[in-house]
Amino acid sequence: SWTTGNVIDEQVAAIREQVGDKRAICGLSGGVDSAVAAALVQRAIGDQLTCVYVDHGLMRKGETEQVEKDFVAATGVQLKVVDAQERFLDALAGVTDPEEKRKIIGREFIRVFEQAQAEIIAEASGDQPVEFLVQGTLYPDVVESGGGTGTANIKSHHNVGGLPEDLEFKLIEPLRKLFKDEVRMVGQELGLPEEIVQRQPFPGPGLGIRIVGEVTKERLDLLREADAIAREELTAAGLDRDIWQCPVVLLADVRSVGVQGDGRTYGHPIVLRPVSSEDAMTADWTRMPYDVLARISTRITNEVKDVNRVVLDVTSKPPGTIEWE
Ligand code: XMP
Repeated sequence: SWTTGNVIDEQVAAIREQVGDKRAICGLSGGVDSAVAAALVQRAIGDQLTCVYVDHGLMRKGETEQVEKDFVAATGVQLKVVDAQERFLDALAGVTDPEEKRKIIGREFIRVFEQAQAEIIAEASGDQPVEFLVQGTLYPDVVESGGGTGTANIKSHHNVGGLPEDLEFKLIEPLRKLFKDEVRMVGQELGLPEEIVQRQPFPGPGLGIRIVGEVTKERLDLLREADAIAREELTAAGLDRDIWQCPVVLLADVRSVGVQGDGRTYGHPIVLRPVSSEDAMTADWTRMPYDVLARISTRITNEVKDVNRVVLDVTSKPPGTIEWE
């Protein structure tokens, strides 16, 4: 019968068999799939696994620390963190087109990841080559992409921009038979932090596609504050399970007039986009309690500099997408 314990035991044995005394690497995104895949492989082969986390500076408040500190503490995994914030900001300077932003973020991510990979390979001793790449591929991904297994056929939207076709690694995909809720259960059983295991979907390009307009450090910091307030209040109201995800978007190129204290303001709007969904293919805007919306609005306009208005997105998908870019 299916238990998380059985799944873990089975996968640990299979991974040991597959990897032998070779080495493996795994990219961590901050999301649940890569975290659980990495934790399983770590349980199986210990320090033969090295994880890579690219800090692109587009994460939400506290998420990088969750990976760097909490995930490492929970698993004992060897982690290489690459601070690439400047590099991503430079590459994104002056760019406002959503597709261009995605391309740039994907491209830079691959470059940074490959460089880290090369460093790990160079550091590994000759008799233990790095032969394996761990991927958090889930069962629905396998079905969608035609059930293929092996080395290169990886759907690009599941990683930031995807991995190159000429991938020279063998893949370890310990979650291939699991659905998302099962992955969360396995993660919990492996002792991963609740914030990682229960995390709602978050796009690979991160806050870079939640700033309508150019991405700058200042705007990212501002959006991080607004997003943290919204998440805090949604969690406090017990709404995390009712809401599929709630993008918080900064309309950086829009300004409106407001009044605060005895002064006129001219600031930016923040959009709240709470959606209910089964699979993100379609979605409806969540009818959430007015008092929670009111608290979020009051706090964001009081606590976040340069934001003087909070608006609610009441569009379903279709015609709107979940993200604004
Ligand atoms: P949309 O905006 O297309 O989003 O309705 C559907 C779901 O996909 C997420 N999303 C992404 N995830 N890389 C990702 O890993 C991306 O580039 C990306 N774009 C959108 C979005 O958050 C939602 O859950």
